[in-house]
Amino acid sequence: MFFKTKENDVPRNIPGHIAIIMDGNGRWAKKRGLPRSFGHSAGAKKFKEIARYCNKIGVKYLTVYAFSTENWKRPKEEIDGIMNLLRDYLKDSTNFKGENIKLRFIGDRAPLPEDVRILMENSERESDDATGMTACLALNYGGRDEITKAVQKIISEGINEQDITEELISSKLYTVDYPDPDLIIRPSGEYRLSNFLTWQSAYSEFYFDKVLWPDFTTKDLDRAIDEFNRRNRRFGGV
Ligand code: FPP
Repeated sequence: MFFKTKENDVPRNIPGHIAIIMDGNGRWAKKRGLPRSFGHSAGAKKFKEIARYCNKIGVKYLTVYAFSTENWKRPKEEIDGIMNLLRDYLKDSTNFKGENIKLRFIGDRAPLPEDVRILMENSERESDDATGMTACLALNYGGRDEITKAVQKIISEGINEQDITEELISSKLYTVDYPDPDLIIRPSGEYRLSNFLTWQSAYSEFYFDKVLWPDFTTKDLDRAIDEFNRRNRRFGGV
């Protein structure tokens, strides 16, 4: 779909699903002589700003990597800090209220603290009727873990070998209700997917940026979308 996203802008194709690896929070804090937790806090604020902008310009799905299955290896203090940010965010009644944004989560919820899980369910319920963008937080998410769990489900359901199709596998993933990401953005100068949307990213366009996530602006997002518009997506065709 083509939208006019700014005054005097030429119409451009807005990716239906943007996914972002919110990387560089720790380095952002270090550069300022601050504890890493300050970087995550700035990163959480940035998520809100970018999500609002995405909703405004007509993005239908925004998925962000907030906590990976590998992030449990970090010091307990840092993990607790990220969980507290999530608590604060999920409790904050001003978040996206009246903005028609549906909040959703992907990942394995079981190991998360119980109160966080309850807050997640409440946020999902409260935003059930929203018809605008879906903002999806990947929490305790790992692409390989997701595929492993899908295989376990398929086997436990006794599905026959000949019935195992790509569509069936997709239907067993956390992302069953979402289209594959069109554009995956990773700031902070790292050029990896880090176990994010492993299955779903097969035909995604990748955009890497040197800027650290807390410094990422709506202009940086516009640049990523402009670059996406210059790509020629063939999905294996000619
Ligand atoms: C990666 O940067 C960032 C994370 C592992 C955590 C991201 C979490 C948030 C932004 C907070 C989530 C909360 C909400 C409400 C969205 P890094 O720590 O690996 O940075 P570095 O590579 O510079 O060390």
